[in-house]
Amino acid sequence: MEIRTERISDYDEVFQLNYLAFKNREDESRLIERIRLSKQFIPELSLVAEENNHIVGHALFSKAEVIDGEKNHDVIVLAPVAVLPSNQKKGIGSILIQEGLKRCTELGYDFVFLIGHPTYYPKFGFKPARKYGFELKQFNVSDEVFMVYELTQGNTNSLQGELRYPETFFV
Ligand SMILES: CC(C)(COP(=O)(O)OP(=O)(O)OC[C@H]1O[C@@H](n2cnc3c(N)ncnc32)[C@H](O)[C@@H]1OP(=O)(O)O)[C@@H](O)C(=O)NCCC(=O)NCCS
Repeated sequence: MEIRTERISDYDEVFQLNYLAFKNREDESRLIERIRLSKQFIPELSLVAEENNHIVGHALFSKAEVIDGEKNHDVIVLAPVAVLPSNQKKGIGSILIQEGLKRCTELGYDFVFLIGHPTYYPKFGFKPARKYGFELKQFNVSDEVFMVYELTQGNTNSLQGELRYPETFFV
Protein backbone atom coordinates (compact mmCIF):
# COMPACT_ATOMS: atom_id res chain seq x y z
CA MET A 1 0.00 0.00 0.00
CA GLU A 2 1.16 3.49 -0.85
CA ILE A 3 0.22 6.78 0.83
CA ARG A 4 0.48 9.69 -1.57
CA THR A 5 -0.91 13.10 -2.43
CA GLU A 6 -4.30 12.96 -4.11
CA ARG A 7 -4.37 13.64 -7.86
CA ILE A 8 -7.20 15.12 -9.91
CA SER A 9 -7.61 11.73 -11.56
CA ASP A 10 -8.46 10.27 -8.10
CA TYR A 11 -11.45 12.58 -7.52
CA ASP A 12 -14.17 10.19 -8.71
CA GLU A 13 -12.79 7.30 -6.71
CA VAL A 14 -12.41 9.47 -3.59
CA PHE A 15 -16.04 10.58 -3.98
CA GLN A 16 -17.21 6.98 -4.16
CA LEU A 17 -15.00 5.88 -1.29
CA ASN A 18 -16.39 8.55 1.05
CA TYR A 19 -19.93 7.79 -0.10
CA LEU A 20 -19.49 4.13 0.85
CA ALA A 21 -17.55 4.74 4.09
CA PHE A 22 -20.20 7.19 5.31
CA LYS A 23 -23.00 4.68 4.67
CA ASN A 24 -24.25 5.91 1.32
CA ARG A 25 -24.29 9.57 2.31
CA GLU A 26 -22.91 12.16 -0.09
CA ASP A 27 -22.37 14.92 2.49
CA GLU A 28 -18.68 14.21 3.10
CA SER A 29 -17.94 13.68 -0.60
CA ARG A 30 -19.58 17.04 -1.36
CA LEU A 31 -17.66 18.68 1.49
CA ILE A 32 -14.40 17.45 -0.03
CA GLU A 33 -15.41 18.92 -3.39
CA ARG A 34 -16.10 22.30 -1.80
CA ILE A 35 -12.86 22.31 0.21
CA ARG A 36 -10.84 21.53 -2.93
CA LEU A 37 -12.29 24.66 -4.55
CA SER A 38 -11.69 26.87 -1.50
CA LYS A 39 -8.66 28.88 -0.49
CA GLN A 40 -8.31 26.68 2.58
CA PHE A 41 -7.29 23.74 0.41
CA ILE A 42 -3.67 22.61 0.62
CA PRO A 43 -3.18 19.99 -2.13
CA GLU A 44 -0.40 18.07 -0.37
CA LEU A 45 -2.68 17.61 2.65
CA SER A 46 -5.25 15.64 0.70
CA LEU A 47 -3.90 12.11 1.08
CA VAL A 48 -4.91 8.84 -0.44
CA ALA A 49 -4.01 5.27 0.36
CA GLU A 50 -3.63 3.23 -2.81
CA GLU A 51 -3.59 -0.53 -3.02
CA ASN A 52 -3.49 -2.51 -6.28
CA ASN A 53 -4.34 0.60 -8.29
CA HIS A 54 -7.41 1.35 -6.15
CA ILE A 55 -7.96 4.12 -3.65
CA VAL A 56 -8.81 2.45 -0.34
CA GLY A 57 -8.46 5.41 2.02
CA HIS A 58 -8.51 9.19 2.04
CA ALA A 59 -7.82 11.93 4.60
CA LEU A 60 -8.23 15.66 4.10
CA PHE A 61 -6.46 18.25 6.23
CA SER A 62 -7.29 21.87 5.39
CA LYS A 63 -6.95 25.37 6.78
CA ALA A 64 -9.05 26.99 9.49
CA GLU A 65 -8.50 29.72 12.06
CA VAL A 66 -8.34 30.21 15.78
CA ILE A 67 -9.60 33.65 16.75
CA ASP A 68 -8.01 35.07 19.87
CA GLY A 69 -9.39 38.56 20.40
CA GLU A 70 -8.07 40.62 17.51
CA LYS A 71 -5.61 37.96 16.36
CA ASN A 72 -6.24 35.15 13.87
CA HIS A 73 -3.98 32.13 13.90
CA ASP A 74 -3.88 29.68 10.97
CA VAL A 75 -4.48 26.09 12.05
CA ILE A 76 -5.44 22.84 10.36
CA VAL A 77 -8.66 20.86 10.63
CA LEU A 78 -8.93 17.20 9.76
CA ALA A 79 -12.15 16.26 7.96
CA PRO A 80 -13.09 13.86 6.65
CA VAL A 81 -11.16 10.60 7.01
CA ALA A 82 -12.51 7.50 5.36
CA VAL A 83 -11.42 3.98 4.58
CA LEU A 84 -13.31 1.68 2.22
CA PRO A 85 -15.52 -0.56 4.42
CA SER A 86 -13.87 -3.74 3.11
CA ASN A 87 -10.44 -2.38 4.06
CA GLN A 88 -11.18 -1.01 7.52
CA LYS A 89 -9.41 -2.09 10.72
CA LYS A 90 -6.16 -2.84 8.94
CA GLY A 91 -4.40 0.31 10.07
CA ILE A 92 -4.97 2.33 6.88
CA GLY A 93 -6.77 5.17 8.68
CA SER A 94 -3.93 5.34 11.22
CA ILE A 95 -1.24 5.55 8.56
CA LEU A 96 -3.13 8.29 6.68
CA ILE A 97 -3.54 10.33 9.87
CA GLN A 98 0.10 9.93 10.91
CA GLU A 99 1.36 10.92 7.47
CA GLY A 100 -0.97 13.93 7.47
CA LEU A 101 0.24 15.07 10.88
CA LYS A 102 3.84 14.76 9.68
CA ARG A 103 3.12 16.88 6.60
CA CYS A 104 1.33 19.51 8.70
CA THR A 105 4.43 19.77 10.90
CA GLU A 106 6.68 20.10 7.85
CA LEU A 107 4.47 22.91 6.57
CA GLY A 108 4.99 24.76 9.85
CA TYR A 109 1.55 24.51 11.44
CA ASP A 110 1.17 24.25 15.22
CA PHE A 111 -2.25 22.69 15.74
CA VAL A 112 -4.66 20.24 14.11
CA PHE A 113 -8.28 20.18 15.28
CA LEU A 114 -11.09 17.76 14.59
CA ILE A 115 -14.52 16.65 15.64
CA GLY A 116 -14.44 12.89 15.84
CA HIS A 117 -14.81 9.61 17.64
CA PRO A 118 -13.38 10.02 21.16
CA THR A 119 -12.16 6.42 21.20
CA TYR A 120 -10.28 6.60 17.88
CA TYR A 121 -8.20 9.80 17.84
CA PRO A 122 -6.56 9.91 21.30
CA LYS A 123 -4.18 7.11 20.27
CA PHE A 124 -2.55 9.57 17.84
CA GLY A 125 -2.17 12.18 20.58
CA PHE A 126 -5.39 14.17 20.07
CA LYS A 127 -6.71 15.66 23.33
CA PRO A 128 -9.97 17.33 24.34
CA ALA A 129 -9.53 20.88 23.03
CA ARG A 130 -11.75 22.79 25.46
CA LYS A 131 -9.53 21.61 28.31
CA TYR A 132 -6.67 23.52 26.65
CA GLY A 133 -8.60 26.75 26.28
CA PHE A 134 -10.07 26.31 22.82
CA GLU A 135 -13.70 27.01 22.07
CA LEU A 136 -16.01 25.81 19.34
CA LYS A 137 -19.28 27.63 18.85
CA GLN A 138 -20.20 26.66 15.29
CA PHE A 139 -21.04 23.07 16.18
CA ASN A 140 -22.91 21.99 19.25
CA VAL A 141 -20.69 19.06 20.23
CA SER A 142 -19.60 17.54 23.51
CA ASP A 143 -16.17 18.23 25.00
CA GLU A 144 -14.83 14.76 24.27
CA VAL A 145 -15.36 14.89 20.49
CA PHE A 146 -13.78 18.32 19.94
CA MET A 147 -10.07 17.51 19.87
CA VAL A 148 -6.71 19.15 19.26
CA TYR A 149 -3.30 17.79 18.35
CA GLU A 150 -0.23 19.81 19.17
CA LEU A 151 2.24 19.53 16.28
CA THR A 152 5.02 21.40 18.00
CA GLN A 153 5.28 20.30 21.60
CA GLY A 154 4.91 22.92 24.29
CA ASN A 155 2.61 25.24 22.36
CA THR A 156 -0.73 24.39 23.90
CA ASN A 157 -0.52 27.30 26.29
CA SER A 158 0.68 29.71 23.63
CA LEU A 159 -2.66 29.85 21.83
CA GLN A 160 -6.22 29.93 23.03
CA GLY A 161 -9.42 31.06 21.43
CA GLU A 162 -12.28 30.03 19.22
CA LEU A 163 -11.74 27.57 16.40
CA ARG A 164 -13.59 28.77 13.30
CA TYR A 165 -14.26 26.34 10.51
CA PRO A 166 -14.43 28.10 7.12
CA GLU A 167 -17.78 28.79 5.46
CA THR A 168 -17.11 25.88 3.13
CA PHE A 169 -18.23 23.57 5.95
CA PHE A 170 -21.70 25.09 6.22
CA VAL A 171 -23.29 25.06 2.80
C1 LIG B 1 -12.76 5.76 11.15
C2 LIG B 1 -12.00 5.08 10.01
C3 LIG B 1 -11.45 6.13 9.07
C4 LIG B 1 -10.85 4.28 10.62
O1 LIG B 1 -10.11 3.71 9.57
P1 LIG B 1 -9.42 2.26 9.75
O2 LIG B 1 -8.45 2.07 8.66
O3 LIG B 1 -10.50 1.26 9.90
O4 LIG B 1 -8.70 2.49 11.13
P2 LIG B 1 -7.47 1.69 11.71
O5 LIG B 1 -7.42 0.34 11.12
O6 LIG B 1 -6.29 2.56 11.64
O7 LIG B 1 -7.90 1.62 13.22
C5 LIG B 1 -8.96 0.75 13.58
C6 LIG B 1 -9.36 1.10 14.97
O8 LIG B 1 -10.32 2.14 14.90
C7 LIG B 1 -11.46 1.77 15.63
N1 LIG B 1 -12.60 2.38 14.98
C8 LIG B 1 -12.98 2.28 13.70
N2 LIG B 1 -14.13 2.97 13.51
C9 LIG B 1 -14.45 3.52 14.68
C10 LIG B 1 -15.52 4.31 15.13
N3 LIG B 1 -16.51 4.67 14.31
N4 LIG B 1 -15.53 4.71 16.42
C11 LIG B 1 -14.54 4.35 17.24
N5 LIG B 1 -13.51 3.57 16.89
C12 LIG B 1 -13.47 3.15 15.63
C13 LIG B 1 -11.44 0.27 15.54
O9 LIG B 1 -12.20 -0.30 16.58
C14 LIG B 1 -9.96 -0.05 15.69
O10 LIG B 1 -9.55 0.03 17.03
P3 LIG B 1 -8.28 -0.79 17.56
O11 LIG B 1 -7.09 -0.30 16.77
O12 LIG B 1 -8.20 -0.42 19.00
O13 LIG B 1 -8.60 -2.22 17.29
C15 LIG B 1 -12.89 4.08 9.24
O14 LIG B 1 -13.43 3.17 10.14
C16 LIG B 1 -14.01 4.74 8.44
O15 LIG B 1 -13.84 5.08 7.27
N6 LIG B 1 -15.20 4.88 9.06
C17 LIG B 1 -16.34 5.46 8.39
C18 LIG B 1 -16.16 6.92 8.17
C19 LIG B 1 -15.90 7.66 9.47
O16 LIG B 1 -16.62 7.50 10.45
N7 LIG B 1 -14.85 8.52 9.46
C20 LIG B 1 -14.39 9.24 10.63
C21 LIG B 1 -15.19 10.44 10.87
S1 LIG B 1 -14.70 11.17 12.43
